[in-house]
Amino acid sequence: EEAALLAAFDAAVAADERIEPRDWMPDAYRFSLIRQIAQHAHSEIIGMQPEANWITRAPSLRRKAILMAKVQDEAGHGLYLYSAAETLSAGRDELLDKLHTGRQKYSSIFNYPTVTWADVGAIGWLVDGAAITNQVPLCRCSYGPYARAMIRVCKEESFHQRQGYELLLALSRGTEAQHTMAQDAVDRWWWPSLMMFGPPDDESAHSAQSMRWKIKRHSNDDLRQRFVDICVPQAEALGLTLPDPDLKWNEQREHWDFGVIDWREFHEVLKGNGPCNEQRLAQRRAAHEEGAWVREAAAAHAAKQRAARQD
Ligand code: ACO
Repeated sequence: EEAALLAAFDAAVAADERIEPRDWMPDAYRFSLIRQIAQHAHSEIIGMQPEANWITRAPSLRRKAILMAKVQDEAGHGLYLYSAAETLSAGRDELLDKLHTGRQKYSSIFNYPTVTWADVGAIGWLVDGAAITNQVPLCRCSYGPYARAMIRVCKEESFHQRQGYELLLALSRGTEAQHTMAQDAVDRWWWPSLMMFGPPDDESAHSAQSMRWKIKRHSNDDLRQRFVDICVPQAEALGLTLPDPDLKWNEQREHWDFGVIDWREFHEVLKGNGPCNEQRLAQRRAAHEEGAWVREAAAAHAAKQRAARQD
C-alpha cells in the first residue's frame, strides 16, 4: 500500500500539483519542509531586531512610519510561516523552543550589526532583494500552504526592497557625508547578502533532493547569480559601488562574474560566532519570556469563550 501512496505522491509532484496537509507524503519530505519552513520563520522574527534598532532614531516621521510598518510585516511573515509549519504537525511552541536552544537555524544575515541609518537602506535593497530572489520561486513550491504564504510575503518584500532602494538613493544623492555613509553600508552588507543563498551547490546537502521534490526550483548558485545580475545595474543607478574588484561582465555566459565568497566567515556565523549571534538569541529569549503573560491571557480568554459557548 505504501508503494501505491508513494507512486501517487511522485505523480502529483511530477504533474506540478500541490501537496496539501491531508495528502499522504513521505516522512523525509515532511521533515525537510519543517526544517526549511522553521528556519525561514525564525529568520523573519529574528530579522526584526537589526532594523527595529533604528526605529527610535529614524530621521523623520515619514521614515519612522515606513520602518515600523516594515518591521511589523516581518512579524506577520513569521506568523504565516509558523502556521504553514503547523499544517505539517510541527507546533509553534516546539519550533520556538528549538530556536531558543540553538537546535534550529535562522538566516546568517541577521547576525550582522546595523551601525548607521544607511544600514536600513542596505538591508532593504540587498537583504530583502536577496530574499525576494530566493522566495519568488518558492511561490511554486510543491507544498501548498508554503507556496501560498510566499505569494503574500513576496508582495510585501517588494515594498521593503523599494523602500530600501529609495532610502539609499536619497542618501547617495545627499551630502558628501550621507553618500559616504550609504557606500559604507553597501560595503558591509554586500558579501553577507550573497551568503544568504546558502553554500555552493556542490556543498549543499539538501538541494538535490529538495529540487527533485520541487520544494526548491533553482539551486543556491543559480539564485545567487541571478541576484548579482540584478544588483549590478541597480548599484550603478544608485551611484554606489559594489565592493568586488572581480565583478566583470562575461560575454560568453551572459552573466556577471564575481569574486570568491569567504565561506569560512559563513561557517563561523552558522556556528554561532558571528558579530551578533549571542545578542540576537538573548533578545529573542527575553522577548519570549516577557511575553508569557500575553500567551497565558490569550489562552485563558479562549478557554472562557469556549466554556461560554457550551453553556
Ligand atoms: N543562513 C543560515 N543557514 C543556512 C544558510 C544561511 N544563509 N544557507 C544555508 N543554511 C543551512 C541550511 O539550513 C542547512 O542546514 P541544516 O541542514 O541544519 O538545515 C545547511 O546550511 C546546508 O544548506 P543547504 O543544503 O543548501 O540547505 P537548503 O537546501 O535548505 O537551502 C536555503 C538553504 C536556500 C536558505 C533554503 O533553505 C531556503 O530557500 N529557505 C527559505 C528562505 C529563507 O529561509 N530565507 C531566510 C532569509 S530571508 C528573510 O527571512 C527576510
